[in-house]
Amino acid sequence: MKVFEHVSLKSYNTFGLDVKARYFAEISSLESYLMVCESGKYAHVPHLFLGGGSNILLTKDVEALVLKMDIQGIEVTQETEDFIWVRAGAGVIWHDFVMYAVQHQWAGIENLALIPGTVGAAPMQNIGAYGVEIKDTFDHLEALNLETSKLERFDEEACQFGYRESFFKHAGKGLYLISSVCFKLAKKAQLHTSYGAIQDILQARGIIQPGIQDVANAVIEIRQSKLPDPKDIGNSGSFFKNPTVSAEEAKRLHAENPAIPSYPVVGSTDVKFPAGWFIEQAGWKGFRDGDAGVHAKQALVLVNYGHATGLQLLDLSEKIKQSVRSKFGVSLETEVNII
Ligand code: EPU
Repeated sequence: MKVFEHVSLKSYNTFGLDVKARYFAEISSLESYLMVCESGKYAHVPHLFLGGGSNILLTKDVEALVLKMDIQGIEVTQETEDFIWVRAGAGVIWHDFVMYAVQHQWAGIENLALIPGTVGAAPMQNIGAYGVEIKDTFDHLEALNLETSKLERFDEEACQFGYRESFFKHAGKGLYLISSVCFKLAKKAQLHTSYGAIQDILQARGIIQPGIQDVANAVIEIRQSKLPDPKDIGNSGSFFKNPTVSAEEAKRLHAENPAIPSYPVVGSTDVKFPAGWFIEQAGWKGFRDGDAGVHAKQALVLVNYGHATGLQLLDLSEKIKQSVRSKFGVSLETEVNII
C-alpha cells in the first residue's frame, strides 16, 4: 500500500471540495492496511476511511492518514430455491452492485439504484430510498476491529439499523473498518412500487406487470430528474435527515400548516416530515450565495457550483437550520458527516 503526502481530496468527495489530506492511500486488501499499521509509521495521526466520499463535508485540510476503500469483488456465497446470498467488497461502487443484481434478476435493492457511494459505506447509515432500506436485504457484514486487528462478523441485530443510523455511527464509531457486506436477495421478486413517483413512471410507460429492471429504471429516472449528478454539480445527496417528531408536535405542525406532507413511523406514534418541505417553505429552494447553494429541484440537497468551501456550505446549512427552527419550531439534523 503506497502512502502519498499532501494529496488533494477534490476528486474523492462528491462536493468536490479541494482540501488536502496530510497522508493518503488506497486500501485494496486488509492485509496491506494491517502491514502499514504494524509499521507504526502513521500511528501518530488518526486514520480516516473514505468510501465514495458522498456523505461528507470537508471543512479543512485533514491532518490524518486518509484511506480510500478499494476492496473489490462480488461473489455468491449461498443459494436456495428462493434466495441468493451475495457478498461484495467494501470498495465496490454501490450502483454497480445494484446493476449487477438487477442484471441477474436478484431482487431487493433495485429501489436503491443510483445512490452514490460504496458498498462498505451503505450500512454505516442504512442507506434508503423509495420505500426500501438496505437493512431489508442485509444479511451480515465483516469488519476489522481496529483495536484488536481481528475480523468480526455483524448480523442485522448487531448493526442496530435505524433511519439513516447504525451501530457504526454511534457506539462503534471509529472502531471498525467494514471490509465486505453480504446481502440476501430474492429470486422471486417482491417489488416495492408504492412510492407515488415510481407508479407515475410505470403508468406513463404502460407497464402493468413491472420487473426488477423496470423498477430500477423508474428509480434512475426519478433520481436523475430531481437530484444533481455530482459529476456536474458538487453535492452529497440529502444534507439533512427528515425530522421525526412526537404525535403532539405533529398535531401542532398539521394545525399550523394544513398542506404539510407527513409519513407515519412504523412501530411508533411519532411522525416524520420531509425536511425538503420546511426548507422550501422557508424560502431556500434555489438559493445561491457565491458558489454555495440549495438545489433548485430538491431543497434537501446543498450544492457546490464550483469553488464553494466546506465552511461556506456549513455556514449555509446553519442558516437554513436556524430559519426552519424559527419559522416552524423544528430542529433539522445534519445527515452528512462534517469533518
Ligand atoms: N419536498 C418539498 N420540497 C422539496 C423537496 C421535498 O416540498 O424541495 C417535499 C414534497 O412534499 C415531497 C416530499 O418532500 O413529496 C418528499 O420528497 P422526496 O420524495 O424527494 O424525498 P425526501 O424525503 O426529500 C428522502 C431521502 C432521499 C431519498 C428520497 C426518496 C432522506 C434524508 N432523504 O428524501 O435520500 O432519495 O427520500 O425515497 O431521508 C439521501 O439520503 O441522500 C437521499 C437522496
